[in-house]
Amino acid sequence: MDAQTERQLGERVGAALDANTNGPAAAEYRQPITHYIDRDHLARERDLLFRRQPLIVAASSEFEKAGDFRTMELDGVSVLIVRQRDGSLRAFHNVCRHRGTRVVDEEAGCRPTFTCKFHSWVYGADGALRHVPGAEGFTGIDRAEHGLTPVPVAERHGLVWLGPMVGDPVDIDAFLGPVGDMLADFHIGRGGVFRFQRFAEAMNWKLVIDTFLEIYHVPYLHAKTIAPYIEGRGGVNDVFGRHGRFLAPRASYDAVRQQPMQPGDFTRHVIVIHRIFPNAIVIWNRDHFELWTSVPDGNDPDRCIVRLWLITTERQVAEADRATWDKNWDITFNTVQSEDFPMARTIQRGFHSGAQTHVVFGRNEKGLHDFHESLRLALEQPYAAAAE
Ligand code: FES
Ligand SMILES: [Fe+2]
Repeated sequence: MDAQTERQLGERVGAALDANTNGPAAAEYRQPITHYIDRDHLARERDLLFRRQPLIVAASSEFEKAGDFRTMELDGVSVLIVRQRDGSLRAFHNVCRHRGTRVVDEEAGCRPTFTCKFHSWVYGADGALRHVPGAEGFTGIDRAEHGLTPVPVAERHGLVWLGPMVGDPVDIDAFLGPVGDMLADFHIGRGGVFRFQRFAEAMNWKLVIDTFLEIYHVPYLHAKTIAPYIEGRGGVNDVFGRHGRFLAPRASYDAVRQQPMQPGDFTRHVIVIHRIFPNAIVIWNRDHFELWTSVPDGNDPDRCIVRLWLITTERQVAEADRATWDKNWDITFNTVQSEDFPMARTIQRGFHSGAQTHVVFGRNEKGLHDFHESLRLALEQPYAAAAE
């Protein structure tokens, strides 16, 4: 982040602290509860947001050398992503072209070829069908047409986007718009994944994203954990097309900004949270990134799959520093798991109570307005062109 941007953003956060606000929205936002519990609504989201949009699914550094692969289930579809010899990434449906078996069961590894365990058809890392045992049984098929079925995949700014699974491929740069340069500024690609975890949650997928879009709750819900370190006010929200950015000051920022600001002060003392449409949160947290994604778990609006990556700024963590990073992971994971998500689970149950038809996002919870407004627009008008 250049010095001028730091200064400008710093002043806006300072002004919000002085005004004791969270960059207020013009009015409260009424969010219908049906959006969290209605099966038809979820079916529309799955189609328009999760199948017809590119989604962040990994960090580039998880695919270091040729043959490095990962598999993942996304909206019920198993996908294989593999680093190629030329340095590019390719992705395929993880489905054998013979009889349809899942080709690769492991979550990650490194291999030059992939052999289906049913009848041992062999595919190259490029997806080409390389070998068919008992080939005399298949003289009538064209091998060139029986490679693994490709899925669009793209790498930008140290992150990996998959899809859309349906419809035309999307230009990620156009999709990100100005957020692309903001992500580029953080050099996520130079870092490495310290730890990754996938877990199932009993809540609508959107409640996971909601968790990271306001700091109004910090002094209350997190009173015994992170509240001494993060302000509950002074948050600033911006919208960039369908994406968003939320600046959340650490408690230390108020003192720092009273002095002449030094380069880097802003990113040391303000947490920068990018919301990447539709379902990812990228958090710059002083010396590391957290990447959170949330996807619906099948057609159940009450369940989702959450993924968390802790990405350090160095590719490898020194052995001597591992204990510190283990602690960082524990703070991140435990705060959300023991404070935010239990709250969200009760919200999801409360949605089914019939107590109310909508919830209210306050003027001081503008990040929530922006997120849900972006979803509303996308469901009305699916993604077709560059972010405004
Ligand atoms: S189903 Fe894969 S080789 Fe037969
Ligand atoms: Fe929280």
